Amino acid sequence: MHLTRQEEKMCQGEYGESIRKSMEIIVALGDIYQAQGLVNITSAQVSGVSYKTIGDAGLEYLEEIASDSKAKTRVPSTLNPAGIDLENWEKLGFSAEFSHHQQRIVEAYGKMDVMTTCTCTPYLIGNVPLKGSHIAWSESSAVAYANSILGARTNREGGPSALAAAICGKTACYGYHLSQNRLTDLIVEVDCDLKGIDYDSLGYLVGKTVKEGRPYFKLKNRPISDNLKGLGAALASSGAVALYHIERITPEYQDAAPEEAEDKLIIDREELDSVKKELSTTTDTPDLICLGCPHASLEEIRYVAEILENKTLKNDLWLCTSINMKHAAARMGYTQTIEEAGGKLVFDTCMVVAPIEELDYKVIGVNSAKAANYVPNLCGLEVVYDDLPSLLNLK
Ligand code: F3S
Repeated sequence: MHLTRQEEKMCQGEYGESIRKSMEIIVALGDIYQAQGLVNITSAQVSGVSYKTIGDAGLEYLEEIASDSKAKTRVPSTLNPAGIDLENWEKLGFSAEFSHHQQRIVEAYGKMDVMTTCTCTPYLIGNVPLKGSHIAWSESSAVAYANSILGARTNREGGPSALAAAICGKTACYGYHLSQNRLTDLIVEVDCDLKGIDYDSLGYLVGKTVKEGRPYFKLKNRPISDNLKGLGAALASSGAVALYHIERITPEYQDAAPEEAEDKLIIDREELDSVKKELSTTTDTPDLICLGCPHASLEEIRYVAEILENKTLKNDLWLCTSINMKHAAARMGYTQTIEEAGGKLVFDTCMVVAPIEELDYKVIGVNSAKAANYVPNLCGLEVVYDDLPSLLNLK
């Protein structure tokens, strides 16, 4: 792999130990994937934050890097959700021990100048890379959004490699950084109109089929951004899709379109509706409804507030979102409406990376195919996957 003189010096430790170690990770990945060289990045999204998933080993690793005063990010870098709501962990029932460890992890990232945004939707809070820019993002749903909707270029980084790239301002140039790897390999034709969780169900079905492929969707209707964050999250969780195209919608669809459709997958209404049953592990009524996977936009919060206005919830409800949305939702009065109905806005975390299994819930209701896919295995709880109005138990 070709390295510039400056990159060689970075590898040799002339810019400090943290840069040397970070370059070691980047160059090793470049060698594995036969990259020709490195490329400068403009943004990073770093995962590997929840104490539930990285444990003591991860905490020690991060504190060691953060103890080097030269370990600072060189590009705008945002952080994935943590295992707790950093302000309201006690009210939500999380233990002091877990929360203490979690706060140390977030502090370590903060010392390295990773912005402690704790959200999986960095593109909703200002980390919005431009089309064609090289980035290093490590949250699979955000990777799908950045590649597909923004037209930026990133591989599915792991937490350590995204952090290394943020510290060096560089990543190895292979995979989705190269134009030839951004073309489609399968056409997906949807022969019905989509609404609500149909986008999640579609992503789940197609992800299972295409695995790491790059599907090209032909849809009958025009989705909005919130639909696409659900579609991408589902594609990336039942499969490992990092990039997809939608005819006449996404920025690279014209370059990516195949001249002739060799492979074509057709999805119909019956298949979409079957996903509810396939992903639900029980028919029991959920005792907790968890929304916001990926983290809710302000418009999604508004919609929930509209449904809950002057109503009372019979089951608990968490609406997971970012701290940025918290302030906007409070100003708009949405938070008050949701709380008066008995629901909670939960920040910095989500139903999958929080130790929700330690609380007193048995059945979680979700309107996200990604969450439905992960909750049974990662939390050991039963799950019901359905549209929001059907999930809510109102009086
Ligand atoms: Fe985000 Fe948690 Fe879903 S990190 S994409 S809300 S599993």
